[in-house]
Amino acid sequence: MAIKNNPTKLKNDIRFLLKERNAILLAHNYQRDEVQEIADVCGDSLGLSQTARKSDASVIVFCGVHFMAESVSILCPDKTVILPRLDAGCPMADMITGEDLKKEKEKRPGVPIVAYVNTTAEVKAISDICCTSANAVKVVNSLEAETVYMVPDRNLSMYVARTAKKKMEWWDGFCPTHERLKPADVLKCKEKNPDAIFVCHPECRTEVIDLADHVCSTSGMYKFAKETKAKTIIVGTEMGILYRLKKENPDKKFILASKSLICPNMKLITLEDILEALEKMDRIVKVPEEIRIPAKRALDRMLEVPRD
Ligand code: 13P
Ligand code: SF4
Repeated sequence: MAIKNNPTKLKNDIRFLLKERNAILLAHNYQRDEVQEIADVCGDSLGLSQTARKSDASVIVFCGVHFMAESVSILCPDKTVILPRLDAGCPMADMITGEDLKKEKEKRPGVPIVAYVNTTAEVKAISDICCTSANAVKVVNSLEAETVYMVPDRNLSMYVARTAKKKMEWWDGFCPTHERLKPADVLKCKEKNPDAIFVCHPECRTEVIDLADHVCSTSGMYKFAKETKAKTIIVGTEMGILYRLKKENPDKKFILASKSLICPNMKLITLEDILEALEKMDRIVKVPEEIRIPAKRALDRMLEVPRD
């Protein structure tokens, strides 16, 4: 076996170079187990960009997908942001372009646009405010307008529309990974595990959400798993989340609601990619200032919405 593929050596080399470059390694909750294992911090997309902002590191190696690295670049313009695989995109974020959104905006004068963080920087720049799956209802309710337009996820939008006190319209995008989960998959798991509870992400189909005992963001799932008295939990989100759920709750059993809950883009980055990117200091994501400034305004506005 080539020495470069020896996992211990790879990890040591990465840690050495991270120190040399004054860099930190951030990994999204859906990354490969070995990437999460070596990361300085794991978390959700927004939490990680806030970690990056608070950090003294001058280089952020971001293991996630492209829009997430863009969010770090928007919030931390003075830091070098490396995405070890530039082809790791989010198909849902790519379902709406800036041009598409401009056309929708023209059709709805005065209607505020709420952009889920799973959007490109260009789309954020055209939007009035951002939201995450954790604060979407609060963000929508914080707006004065009676009607709100939300992009890009129809499932999250429909979920919010059921709870928020607003008239809602939305773009017809979806996450192909969460969309694959069908009610029949959940019912099968429930039948096999009658005492289990079911928790899912709001990117799931409405019919799946209707079967859930709890609906929350990826960070919300870690909190819920710790607090619930249930010993068996059926999980309706991307399989990468199981790594930490199992590690943090060794007394509980986690069942992935369907084997199809894998986001191929989230699995692209390998330890080899991280090492190579650190050696070459390439694969840099940098949002141009004319997009960064308005996109930051939408993110900042979201951060001003009070939390619980
Ligand atoms: P988070 O915002 O919880 O990190 O989720 C991002 C995502 O891609 C969900 O599919
Ligand atoms: Fe995008 Fe879905 Fe993958 Fe998340 S899981 S990065 S929303 S495709």
